[in-house]
Amino acid sequence: MTVIALAGKGGVGKTTLCSLMAFHLASVEPPVLAIDADPNSNLGEKMGLRATSDLSSALACLREVPEGVAKHDVMAVKAREALIEGPGVDLIGMGRPQGPGCYCFANSVLRDVLTLMSKSYRHVLVDNEAGMEHISRGTVAKVDVLIVVSDPSVAGLRAASRIWGLADELEIEVARKLLVVNSVTEETRPALRERLASMGLTDYAFVPYEPDIRSLNMEGKPLLSMEDTGAYKAIARLCDRIILSVP
Ligand SMILES: Nc1ncnc2c1ncn2[C@@H]1O[C@H](COP(=O)(O)OP(=O)(O)OP(=O)(O)O)[C@@H](O)[C@H]1O
Ligand SMILES: [Mg+2]
Repeated sequence: MTVIALAGKGGVGKTTLCSLMAFHLASVEPPVLAIDADPNSNLGEKMGLRATSDLSSALACLREVPEGVAKHDVMAVKAREALIEGPGVDLIGMGRPQGPGCYCFANSVLRDVLTLMSKSYRHVLVDNEAGMEHISRGTVAKVDVLIVVSDPSVAGLRAASRIWGLADELEIEVARKLLVVNSVTEETRPALRERLASMGLTDYAFVPYEPDIRSLNMEGKPLLSMEDTGAYKAIARLCDRIILSVP
């Protein structure tokens, strides 16, 4: 099982990339689990899967479990209820931690549930909110490939390079990091390559700007039937690179 996590500043295309990666991986190496680790989640919308519950709500239900009933079993049932099944790819939302106080217990339960669930899948994708909250909280126990997503701007690349550095300070082990520059136009490619080389970044991929992605987003429609677009093809190549590099 390969855990691929997407990180990056706000609005760079993490959820878009996560959805299209989930679709491609589901077509070549199913089954895939997509974890929506953004409390303002919209991964389900982009994947055309409707979530009705999430893991944090499941966890909140444990407070009402009567004495003598195993909380672990209740959590397993509730977590299964929160899982949305799609063709080759399932979706689960982390939700927003609830109630005041420390989330250490919540985090450790979430980590255990996710670790257990993930075992049934070939690939697990984690769509993070801007920043790396769930990864740094330890809810995601391990990451095989961290994809740092950036827009093509100088400021965007600087932010991505900061996140790149931050990943080394995490408590969990990240086996490999990969930079993906998203929404790249043909004419900006040569300058981008030079800029990345001057920043010492060599392990990267470009995903082209795709007007259909933006218009589907405007209409709140899922990213279906994108296989013929340049963006999907670039994402498919990226997935194949990852599959080949991870034992
Ligand atoms: N390759 C692309 N071509 C054109 N538009 C794109 C592309 N990738 C993403 N977008 C658009 O950019 C916007 C942000 O995308 P997305 O929601 O995937 O970013 P995000 O990083 O997940 O944002 P957030 O940090 O808010 O979760 C959306 O309008 C999306 O349609
Ligand atoms: Mg997002």
